[in-house]
Amino acid sequence: MKHPVVIVCAGGGGVGKTTASAAFALALAKSGYRALIVSIDPARRLADAMGVELGTQARELSLDSGNGQLFGLMPDPEDALRTFVEFLFAEEPEALARLLDNRLYRALEAAVPGIHEVATISLTWRAITEHEVDAVVIDTAPSRNAVDFITYPKRLAKLLGGRAVGWMAAIGKRTSVVPQEDKMGRVEQLLVRALGPVARDVAGLFSEMARVRKRFILLNEHTSDLLLRPETRYYPVASPTAAARDDVDYLIKKLAKLDIAPRALILNSAFVPERGWVDVLEESGETTPAIDDVLSTLNDERSTRNRAASRITEAFSKRYPILPQLRLPFVESVEPRSIVHTLSQSFDIAALLQR
Ligand SMILES: Nc1ncnc2c1ncn2[C@@H]1O[C@H](COP(=O)(O)OP(=O)(O)OP(=O)(O)O)[C@@H](O)[C@H]1O
Ligand SMILES: [Mg+2]
Repeated sequence: MKHPVVIVCAGGGGVGKTTASAAFALALAKSGYRALIVSIDPARRLADAMGVELGTQARELSLDSGNGQLFGLMPDPEDALRTFVEFLFAEEPEALARLLDNRLYRALEAAVPGIHEVATISLTWRAITEHEVDAVVIDTAPSRNAVDFITYPKRLAKLLGGRAVGWMAAIGKRTSVVPQEDKMGRVEQLLVRALGPVARDVAGLFSEMARVRKRFILLNEHTSDLLLRPETRYYPVASPTAAARDDVDYLIKKLAKLDIAPRALILNSAFVPERGWVDVLEESGETTPAIDDVLSTLNDERSTRNRAASRITEAFSKRYPILPQLRLPFVESVEPRSIVHTLSQSFDIAALLQR
């Protein structure tokens, strides 16, 4: 498999991550890639932005994607646990059936950190191989911890390799062989006393999980392959507000701890393009005083927006002098899909991927 180009867009809430990610993916498709857009955000906004149906199975999107193809994946958080265990137990159907029967199966949801993110990674990997995707754009959740998912599988694999789990798993195997309490060994008895009637379920759960330890390691490898290779491209996204600027600062520091340097800063709504129709109206000499008022308000609003955006852009240039900026326009449309289409024209893929 040729390794796909992986792009991760992250940033503060409401700055346009989902819109920019969708536009990025569409631009990739237009320039000939078989691109996949994935949303890790459980809020499910990606489908609205694209104006298409999206779900737990990756599917091709019928958008105007030029020479390439565009696939979309937006896993349903409701399916996350099932997706997760199906990945782990792909080669162990009997153990999977036992696990699903375990009274504590649902408890895994609370026990495994970021299960939705981890499940999304496994689905992304599958979609890449199934559809021979050569570029992936990942839209993250609106949280300061949005990139924490990078390390979840590693932590899980470590947890599973830990002594406590090995011990519980060993007990799990024994308790399933020796069901009657009077025949239990001392350790089992202690366990039952400590945990009560669910002791066997707990031990059974650990024992099943330990059985698929190799798949955890594989999941961890997939994650590293997607998210931690030096070739993986991180793009902080900001809108021209102080809050968005602070979120980018935080994100860049966090990435630095993982030895990741962002490729470019995406500044969304960084300017308001000229409104050609305003000039035409103004020059026509056929306006009324009421129309003149509206036009002047629109012009004022545009200047105010542009000034605020320039201030933040300059602040970013000072802080990150060598980080290139991709300035996206503010698009005056109420239709998310048409915003995505317009923005996709601002992505010069060849230039962006050269950096
Ligand atoms: N360049 C733009 N011009 C005009 N509107 C935009 C632009 N970018 C995004 N929007 C609009 O702003 C809103 C928020 O955008 P979006 O959902 O992409 O942000 P987000 O960062 O993904 O939000 P969240 O943090 O909730 O995930 C949407 O209604 C979107 O259509
Ligand atoms: Mg979003």
